[in-house]
Amino acid sequence: MPLPFSDVPAFRRDPLALLLDRAASNESAFAPLYLGLRPLWLVTDPKVARAVLKWPSAAIDKGSLVQTIAPLVGKSLLTNKGLEHSSVKEAVHRHVHRNSVVANLDRMIAIINQFVTRMLVDGRLDTEKDLPLLAFQLACVIVFGHDATSAADRTLLVNAVRTVEAAVAASMFRLPFLPRWPGELRRETQLLEEARETIKFVIRRVRASEHKSDVVRGLEAAGLDDEALAAEVLGLLIAGHHTTGATMGWLIHHLAEDPELAEMIAIEADEVLGGLEENDDARLKQAQLSHTFVSEILRLYPAGWWTSREMFKPVEIDGKKFTVGDTLMIAPWQLHRDARLWFQPHEMRLDRSYTEPAYVPFGVGARACIGMSIAWFELQLFVLQVSSALRFKRLTAGAPQPKPSITLLFPPSRYEVTMRDSALHGQDAA
Ligand code: HEM
Repeated sequence: MPLPFSDVPAFRRDPLALLLDRAASNESAFAPLYLGLRPLWLVTDPKVARAVLKWPSAAIDKGSLVQTIAPLVGKSLLTNKGLEHSSVKEAVHRHVHRNSVVANLDRMIAIINQFVTRMLVDGRLDTEKDLPLLAFQLACVIVFGHDATSAADRTLLVNAVRTVEAAVAASMFRLPFLPRWPGELRRETQLLEEARETIKFVIRRVRASEHKSDVVRGLEAAGLDDEALAAEVLGLLIAGHHTTGATMGWLIHHLAEDPELAEMIAIEADEVLGGLEENDDARLKQAQLSHTFVSEILRLYPAGWWTSREMFKPVEIDGKKFTVGDTLMIAPWQLHRDARLWFQPHEMRLDRSYTEPAYVPFGVGARACIGMSIAWFELQLFVLQVSSALRFKRLTAGAPQPKPSITLLFPPSRYEVTMRDSALHGQDAA
C-alpha cells in the first residue's frame, strides 16, 4: 500500500502526466491518488464520472476545495452549496443562456474587431497580456451590461480579480502543513481587502447605471446586496476570463501551425460574418468548421482541467463503497486524452464525435459551467474574426506546453501578427 502523500512530488512536478499515467495503469473506474492522508479517487470511467457529477448534491458536492477558496473569493456560485447555490444559479442562468448572449452580438463583434485592429497596428501578440484582457472585456459586456463599465472601471477590476486569483492559486498549490509567515499573511489579507473594496465600488456604479445587464438585474431581484453581488461578479469573472483567454491562446497556436486550416476557417468566416450583424446568430450555428475546431481545442486543452467532489453521505458507486469525507477527482484533461477512449488522443483531428460521454469541457450536472454559452459564443466568434483578418507566426521558442494552475493555462508566448493576404487584397480593391 503506497504511503500517504506519496504522489505529492509527482503531482507538483507534472500533475498532467501523473493523471494520465495513473489512469492508464489502472483497470478500475477509480484510480487512487495519494495526495493526502487518505487516498483520493480519480474517476476514469466517463459514464461513472457523469453519474458522480449528476449525483444529488445532498450526498456528493464540492468539498474541502470550497472551504479553502471561500475565504478568498467570498460566497458565490463557485463556493456556495445547497439551496443558496441553486437559487443564485437559477437567477444567473436565466440571463446567460445563448439568447441573452446573442442580444450583445454587435458589441462583442465590435470588441473583437478592436482587438484585431490593435494587433495589426502592433504587429505583435503577447498571449499572456492580450488574451485574458480580451476575454475579460467580453465577459464584462454580459456580466455588467453594454456600456455599464468604463475603461477605468475595467482596469480597476482586472487588477482586483488578479489579486484574488493569485491568492487562490497560491492556496491551492501550498502544502497544508507548511506554516505561513505572519507578515506575508497580513499583506495578503490587506491586498484582498483592497481588491474586494474595488469590486464593490465598481458594482455600486454598475447598479446605478441605466445600462446595467440583465445578470445584475436578476441578482438584484434575487435580493443580493452590494457585498453578495460583488462576490458573485468576482466569481463569474474569475471563472470566465482565464478559461476563455487560455482557450483563445490554443486556437491561435493551431491557426499559426496550420495555415491551410486558418484559410479554410477564413473562407467560412467570409461566408457567415456578414450576416451576423442583426443580432441573429443563425449563421454562426451553420459554421461547422469553426465549431468543430473550437470543440477539438476544448478537448485537447480543457481549461477546467479537473474538479473534485466530496461524499457527505455514505454512497456506493459502480460497486465501490465510499464513506463520508472520501474525495473523488474528475479530470476532463484525463478523460479527454485517455487512449482507451479516443483515437490518437494527443493529436488535433477534426473528424471526431463530441457526443462521447468522455467529452466534458464544461462539466455536467448541478455544478456545470454557467458561462458555457458565453464561452462558446466568444470562442467561435473570436476564431472566425481573427482568421478572416490575421495570420500568426510563433516567435517564442519551443512548442507551447499546457500550464496547470487553477485553470489550464496557455504558456506566455509571443506571435508576429500580419494581415491575411486576401484581406489585404480586399482592402487594396476598396
Ligand atoms: C473555455 C471557457 C470555459 C471553460 C472550459 C469552463 C469550464 C468549467 C467547468 C468544467 C466547470 C465545472 C466545474 C465543476 O464541476 O466543479 C465550470 C464551472 C463554472 N464556470 Fe466555467 N468555463 C469556461 C468559461 C466560463 C465563463 C465565460 C464563465 C462566466 C462568465 C464561467 C463561469 C463558471 C462558474 C460561475 C462556474 C461554477 C458553477 C457552479 O459551481 O455552479 N465559466 N466551468
